[in-house]
Amino acid sequence: MSGGDKLDFEIRPNPAPVSAADRAALLANPGFGRVFTDHMVTIRYADGKGWYDARVEARAPIPMDPAAAVLHYAQEIFEGLKAYRGADGSVTLFRPDANALRFADSARRLAMPELSTETFVESLRRLVEIDREWIPEDEDSSLYLRPFMFASEVFLGVRPANEYLYCVIASPAGAYFASGVKPVTVWVSPDYTRAAPGGTGAAKCGGNYAASLAAQAEAIEAGCDQVVFLDAVERRFVDELGGMNVFFVYDDDTLVTPPLTGTILPGITRDAILTLAAESGHRVEERPVSFADWQADAASGRLREVFACGTAAVITPIGGVRFPDGEFLIGGGEPGRSTMALRQRLSDIQRGRADDRHGWVQRVL
Ligand code: PLP
Ligand code: COI
Repeated sequence: MSGGDKLDFEIRPNPAPVSAADRAALLANPGFGRVFTDHMVTIRYADGKGWYDARVEARAPIPMDPAAAVLHYAQEIFEGLKAYRGADGSVTLFRPDANALRFADSARRLAMPELSTETFVESLRRLVEIDREWIPEDEDSSLYLRPFMFASEVFLGVRPANEYLYCVIASPAGAYFASGVKPVTVWVSPDYTRAAPGGTGAAKCGGNYAASLAAQAEAIEAGCDQVVFLDAVERRFVDELGGMNVFFVYDDDTLVTPPLTGTILPGITRDAILTLAAESGHRVEERPVSFADWQADAASGRLREVFACGTAAVITPIGGVRFPDGEFLIGGGEPGRSTMALRQRLSDIQRGRADDRHGWVQRVL
């Protein structure tokens, strides 16, 4: 279903873009996910026809039939990555090919058509090109790109749809957590799990997030920022957070993160950290960590740091853990040195301040 989708993009500039003054005001403090640029990309797909009608056009509501399949059976996937503006005016993306491949993996799992890596990256480039003035320049800010695809076929039967709409929207963004890089507190959900073996945990589909929201609401109720999910089989091992992967740092400088067994999202930040940590002298292990060990090792001091990582969160220290029977701190609730050093190193590469030895940074403009 993939390949062969080399498309020409029709460019229809927004006739009424936001004024420069209003844009500057919006960019001063964008927060996360609330401010949007002037344009969007859309590409249509129909069985037998393939991908067609690639456009860059004014960002606008999408008319949808009430029987569109996505509204009923949630056949939808998405991605998230950031565009950065360099001091010389260049624009870069961090590992967009990895997002393209994961998008294709998600598409296969949700029985949707694949978009080629070339078209995926070109769609991002086109949007960033027309909306480049929306890329914030200050440290900790960037233009968050959100590609997504959903079943647009008007049909209530339960089977893979035969029509889809792919879109990309862009949102200037500051830190994901209102507290910035201050350590967050997480809630370990006693009742809810996120993904079971054979399920969709490794796919970036909207349904995974819908299923996480009751647990996320519980986390907020308990005064926490994010929920931590344990494995669905034994309810013992840490999987990941609602929207981030997790790392543990021990006093012998070993970094541990849960393995990719199909129930967690294979984070691109996670992957980069495994490489960067090894380069900076850490031993790195992908192995299961039980919640019982997490607690015991935090109490003994053997566990020095824990952090969350992802495109939106970058690397955010986890300072406290709550669960129905109690709570505990990690590293006295303060950010740890390995966490902050890795965060600095990753940001330096992403923002072009450090050598990109792995070819992760792709210049698109
Ligand atoms: N896990 C979940 C559930 C996520 O939503 C994300 C965010 O994309 C991640 C992990 C981290 O993935 P990445 O580093 O590719 O952004
Ligand atoms: C991301 O980091 O891109 C995410 O998807 C996390 C969250 C905003 C869903």
